Amino acid sequence: MSVVGIDFGNLNTVVAVARNRGIDVIVNEVSNRATPSLVSFGEKQRYLGESAKTQEISNFKNTVAGLKRLAGRPFSDPDIQIEKKFINANLVEGERGEVAASVFYQGDQRSFTFTQLCAMFLGKVKEFTGKEIKTPVTDVVISCPGWFTDRQRRAILDAADVVGLTVLRLMNDSTAAALGYGITKLDLPDPSDANAKPRNVVFFDLGHSSCQVAVVSFVKGKLVVKGTAYDRNLGGRDFDEVLVEHYAKEFSTKYKIDINSNAKAKFRLRQAAEKVKKILSANAVTMLNVECIMDDKDVSAQVQRSDFEEWAAPLVERLSVPIKEALAAAGITPEEVEFVELVGGSTRIPAVKQTLSDLFGANKLSTTLNQDEAVARGCALQCAMISPVFKVRDFAVQDWNSYPIELAWSSPEKGDTTMEAFPIGNAIPSNKVLSIYRALNDDELSAQGGSVAVDIEANYGEKRAERHFPEGTGRWIGKWTVKGIKKVGTPESQTNGASAPKASIKVKTKLDGNGLVAVDSATQIEETVVPVEPTKLEAEKKEEGAASMDVDNSAESPAAESPAADAPKTKRVTIKHNLTVVAQTTAAPAEILNKWKDEEGQMSAADRLVIDTAEARNALEEYVYDTRSKLEMAWSEYTTEDDRSTFMKKLNDMEEWLYSDEGENAGKGVYLEKLKELKKLGDPIRRRFLEHEERPRTEKHLRDYINSVLVNVSAGDDRYAHIPKEDLDKVAKEAQTKLNWLNDSIAKINEQPKHQDPAITVDQINKERESLHIFATPILNKPKPAPKVEKKEEKKEAKKGEAKEDKMETDEKEGSDEGAKDEGNRMDVD
Ligand SMILES: Nc1ncnc2c1ncn2[C@@H]1O[C@H](COP(=O)(O)OP(=O)(O)OP(=O)(O)O)[C@@H](O)[C@H]1O
Ligand SMILES: [Mg+2]
Repeated sequence: MSVVGIDFGNLNTVVAVARNRGIDVIVNEVSNRATPSLVSFGEKQRYLGESAKTQEISNFKNTVAGLKRLAGRPFSDPDIQIEKKFINANLVEGERGEVAASVFYQGDQRSFTFTQLCAMFLGKVKEFTGKEIKTPVTDVVISCPGWFTDRQRRAILDAADVVGLTVLRLMNDSTAAALGYGITKLDLPDPSDANAKPRNVVFFDLGHSSCQVAVVSFVKGKLVVKGTAYDRNLGGRDFDEVLVEHYAKEFSTKYKIDINSNAKAKFRLRQAAEKVKKILSANAVTMLNVECIMDDKDVSAQVQRSDFEEWAAPLVERLSVPIKEALAAAGITPEEVEFVELVGGSTRIPAVKQTLSDLFGANKLSTTLNQDEAVARGCALQCAMISPVFKVRDFAVQDWNSYPIELAWSSPEKGDTTMEAFPIGNAIPSNKVLSIYRALNDDELSAQGGSVAVDIEANYGEKRAERHFPEGTGRWIGKWTVKGIKKVGTPESQTNGASAPKASIKVKTKLDGNGLVAVDSATQIEETVVPVEPTKLEAEKKEEGAASMDVDNSAESPAAESPAADAPKTKRVTIKHNLTVVAQTTAAPAEILNKWKDEEGQMSAADRLVIDTAEARNALEEYVYDTRSKLEMAWSEYTTEDDRSTFMKKLNDMEEWLYSDEGENAGKGVYLEKLKELKKLGDPIRRRFLEHEERPRTEKHLRDYINSVLVNVSAGDDRYAHIPKEDLDKVAKEAQTKLNWLNDSIAKINEQPKHQDPAITVDQINKERESLHIFATPILNKPKPAPKVEKKEEKKEAKKGEAKEDKMETDEKEGSDEGAKDEGNRMDVD
């Protein structure tokens, strides 16, 4: 079982695994610790991760970025306009109104939703991780930005499902980093110490596309997220864009080129700008160069860090907004913050660090975490904590709800009811039980076949506006229909005075560890009054606990309230009837998921076929080159001149064919068939060569064995003294026969030309050795007869000094067995 954490970044994805009693970040197929989050489409195959990166310019329109940010977004989402700038592929509206990328793949223009694109990429992550840890990957923890809504989270879960990944937890980026921090710190305040104050740490993550801030308080064994805030559209890419915009303008006058009119040129400028930005993090000045950017023109410019900082000042100013909001949400002042942990590649920008120093004080900035790998490591730790296969110290994680969640339902009597079930800042995970009283109307019941339903709808509440909610993803979370509500028990028990009978329903809702709203179950409560014998009632009153759940003997009971002296005693009994809950969420419906799974299966089979075909072609090509050089050198004596030149011609023809149009584009089967044809000619030559190479060793092996047998049986060896002479003679005779056969055979072979198949093969020589072994061993391994028992006593008395020898002879069982074993072994090893 795998224990894997995935930081699914917008630019890069980092994978960590629990192994060797620790957490390791693993490398991908080209030994990089971060994999580009990209998917590219070609004529025959897809390119995923690293291989997509190499296609970014050459296969410009068919290479898709921004995978996780667009998953779960409707095409109408205004944020799509922002993302469009950073995505080279065309964006279109998918089947269910979601955004999709339109790409040219396998000869067709096709569109894939971003959930599918995420699935493709996660499939690649699954593959290289599985190869690296040599275990199939199934269980994972994936991170997502804390500002993701229910809909976006479900899209990531759907994507994982498409490629057979079970997501044990979808973890907020900053919370994952915080877990990695907390579990490694051994000096956290002890909650049992009344004077100890929790340690407040701010996690500041500035990645490629977004800025995330979380204020987290730590005590030993527990972290509580106290407040979060985000600027979901502020990241390293925006800093790149500042340079792009500046230099696009400068180059239009300097070089008379309009970079904004050429998407590829703009993309290449963006790549150069990123490089420049990174260099400026450690240097005051650098050069921006792009060769042949457009119209055959090279561009270059000297860039000063001070200028870059001036142009980027509006972005830097924005950084303090989420920091202040997160602190306010947590009710913590900057002074109360002990450390600010930097996460994400863009926290390397000096101006970003300066902003944090200004707000908190330079001494509080800390990089105890690896800023590029902290999130992945936290995810792997969480996975290890959930997974039963790995033992990790427990560390409780309490997350913080970012957007207010309302639950609404309607009843014929009261109309619509709405309550804020999970307000901003509510702990995650968290459970709430809703009590709903549903009027039961006979006409309605009979019209609906005896039972009615209640719909509970979840929506993000009004206050979401304060939290920069991504409105484009919609406020609707889901609807749960609670079915099977009917009249239960006696009519009296459901009548409250004059009003109609009401069903009392308890609905268990939760905000789960993934930050998703769920309705777990619902029950209808039937309270009924039953008579009870006085003695039994008394006994039950005394019994605490067990009765308190289901039996209510409270004063509210009319029977208990004014007990007439002679009135029969009664008690209230609660019966729970389970109700059916049918969920409807933004997750992809089963039929869509199945369709995506089918498509994914076909596409990965096509990718596999391309790889296999390339391997088959390579194998054929390699055989041609390899065999040609062997025919000239090592194999030359093992074929006749005629055969050699015929074979050479075939190899040369094959080489020519391989580089013809047909040979470049043939199917896997054709390459395999052609290789088989060549091998038909090559294999006998190869076999003769190998026979010749191998024969001396095999011959020596048999010769040595024969000699050891002959020497042993004829030397009057003490070990064989108990074996009848005629048996030993038989062995000697057999050995001699083998020797004669070997001498004859070798002589025959030596007379043959090397291009002929040898009269005797290495295989036959080995068989002769085996047959001698089978013949000789049972005779020579015959156990020595057991010595007589009286002898034991006598000898012990007589020869005290020769204890070793005594033991051999007197220890009946061991002695004889070991002796036999010894001889057997000796005969086996020659
Ligand atoms: N030395 C550096 N100086 C400035 N920026 C850097 C440096 N190194 C990396 N970056 C920037 O960091 C960003 C990538 O950071 P990271 O890998 O944390 O992002 P991500 O996790 O892929 O994105 P996100 O968290 O937004 O989804 C890029 O914009 C990159 O240019
Ligand atoms: Mg990130």
